[in-house]
Order: sequence, then structure tokens, then C-alpha cells
Amino acid sequence: MKTIGRLKIGIVGCGGISRAHAQAYRTAGAPIALVYDVDRAAAAALAQEVGAQVADSLRAMAQPGALDAVSICTPPAFHLEHCLPFVRAGIPVLCEKPLEISVPRAQRLAAGVKKKRGLFMTAYCHRFHPPIIEAKKLIASGRLGRPLFFRNMFAGKFVLRGNHRANPKLSGGGCVADNAAHAVDIFRFLVGDVAAVQAQVANLAQQAAVEDFGLLFLRGKKGCVGEIACCYSTPVATNYVEVLCEKGTVTVNYWIPGRPDIAYRIEGEKEERTIDVSKAPDRFIAEIAHFLDCVRTGAKPAVTVADGLASAEVIAAAYASARTGRLVRLP
Ligand SMILES: NC(=O)c1ccc[n+]([C@@H]2O[C@H](COP(=O)([O-])OP(=O)(O)OC[C@H]3O[C@@H](n4cnc5c(N)ncnc54)[C@H](O)[C@@H]3O)[C@@H](O)[C@H]2O)c1
Repeated sequence: MKTIGRLKIGIVGCGGISRAHAQAYRTAGAPIALVYDVDRAAAAALAQEVGAQVADSLRAMAQPGALDAVSICTPPAFHLEHCLPFVRAGIPVLCEKPLEISVPRAQRLAAGVKKKRGLFMTAYCHRFHPPIIEAKKLIASGRLGRPLFFRNMFAGKFVLRGNHRANPKLSGGGCVADNAAHAVDIFRFLVGDVAAVQAQVANLAQQAAVEDFGLLFLRGKKGCVGEIACCYSTPVATNYVEVLCEKGTVTVNYWIPGRPDIAYRIEGEKEERTIDVSKAPDRFIAEIAHFLDCVRTGAKPAVTVADGLASAEVIAAAYASARTGRLVRLP
């Protein structure tokens, strides 16, 4: 078993999300040793913030033994080429979502991971969001009965111009590839795999080559249906995950002033109950603590490359449905 304090951690891609990773590693007592970015100034800025060295190249970072673990925080279209050198070198990888920009590329990454049997975790951080964990426990306890209807909204204001998300060759799409990918993973986590999807995408308010609005209707393999809405152009939005079941309903509210993080009501009860999650660690801290536990113990991560591939398949099916207007069944 390795001692956390002695782990050498690397980050590839020194933009927005790398800061959340760096802070979570620091909280776990595993500071960043090496960073790399194609933009040398971005790498130098993160290195200075976290007291790390800038690597000369990704290849230099991905030598066997150079690192104990790495976070890949680059745009989705680079995940395949940035993860595989570490996978081949036997270095555990935490790869940001979405896994890749297409199913074939996600499959190639999954095949590379399977071949080396290394530790690989897809960074679907909402699996570590304390209210989502409580919702999962409630559903698993059977108190709410069988899940029938899943509803999720992830909307807000995100300016596409100047961001890698505006370029579909880098991002794979707009808010569907970005936010609905999280939502699909939450659906799979709470109510099971997806059997079929029907979707609409649109450019409602931003001039961009990718959509700023998406609406997905899901049919689950276990009989639960779902609707997912996502948007990049609505600054005031009600972000939530809600699961309506045969005997009750649970609602997770995201950052809505005045609303509890999680509330549920069971048939026959007049009062809504809430669960206090204010003392639980934030989802990035919990995600990276879990990843490091796996690095230390060799345990299988809670979110695997197969989960990343499964979401990629649903997102590709959603885009196919939006193009054709048809329901698309998953393999
Ligand atoms: N889990 C979450 O909630 C969450 C939140 C934000 C972003 N993300 C994901 O994290 C990833 C990065 O998103 P971001 O918002 O940090 O993007 P960003 O554009 O802010 O940063 C990406 C960084 O990667 C660098 N980069 C680009 N091409 C590179 C290359 N070939 N080699 C090395 N570095 C390269 C860029 O210079 C930039 O510094 C995406 O997959 C995104 O979907 C996840």
C-alpha cells in the first residue's frame, strides 16, 4: 500500500477544471508534482499556484514510474491520445468527462484500458455529490418504491465564444455533450441503464457551431422513463434532479437559494423531509479522495471507463435522434 503523502500526482490540461482537481489533491494531502499544457503560460500559471514543476512534454510525464497518478483535464477530443500513454505506462488515470467526442474514440480508449487492466476512472463527479449519494441510498432502501420517472435540469449561463466547447471538433457538441453527459450518468447511477433516447437540440440564444439547448427523453432498461433538459443561455435556472417513485419522490436541488439540497416525501406523509449534507465534503474533494483510495489500495473505482463509454453511447444516440427525429435504441 502506498502512502498518500508520497504520491507524485500530475495534471494534463491547466484550464478551468484543473483548479478543482489541484485543490482536491491538496486537501487529500497529495500535492501536484508535475503539470503540462500545450499552452506554456497556462502550465506555468497552474504550476506557480500549486507549487509544481512544468513538464517538458506529455511523453516525459508518461514514463513508467514518473508519476503515481494523473488527472486528464484537456478538452474531450484529446482524452484518447492523452490518456493512453499513461495507461500504457501503468499510471492510474482520472479522466475528465465526457470520455471522448465519439463512440468509436471512447471504445478505443476503453479497449486500451481493458488491455492494460490499469486503474482508470471517468470523472463523473456528481456520483460524489452528497445529495445524489443520499438520493441513491433512499432509492436503494426501497422506502420510495420503484422509480418511475426521472427529471433533471442542468441550465445556466455559459458563454460559448472563446471556449473550447464552441468547437465541436474539440468538445463533441454543446450542452448535450457537456451537461447532459453528467445527467445521463446520474440517470444510470440512480435508476439504471438507458434502453432508448429521443432528443431535440437547438441554438436558442448563442451564435455557435454547437447547441445551447438540449432536451432528452430516456427510456430506462428497468422501466423508469426520464427527461433531461440542459441549456447554456439561461442565467436564472432551477437546477435539480428528481426521481418520482411508486411510493414517494426525492428532489436534489442544485444551488437554489432557499431550497434544501435534498428533500423527499413518502406517500401518506404530509411533511416533506430534508437531509442535512452540509458537513459532507464537496463532490470534487470526495471524487479525488476516492480515486486516491483506489490508487493506494488497488480497488476498482466507483466510476469506470465502461461508465464513460455507456454515457458516450447515450449522447451519440441523442444527437442521432435529434438529426432524424426518431427514437434511437441503445445496443
Ligand atoms: N466535472 C465537471 O463538472 C467539469 C467541469 C468543467 C469541465 N469539465 C471537463 O474538463 C475538461 C476540460 O474542461 P475545462 O473547462 O477545464 O477546459 P479549459 O478550456 O478551461 O481548459 C483546457 C486546457 O487544456 C489545454 N489543452 C488544450 N489542448 C491541449 C493539448 N493538446 N495538450 C495539452 N493541453 C491542452 C488548454 O490549453 C487549456 O488550458 C473537459 O473535458 C470538460 O468537459 C468537467
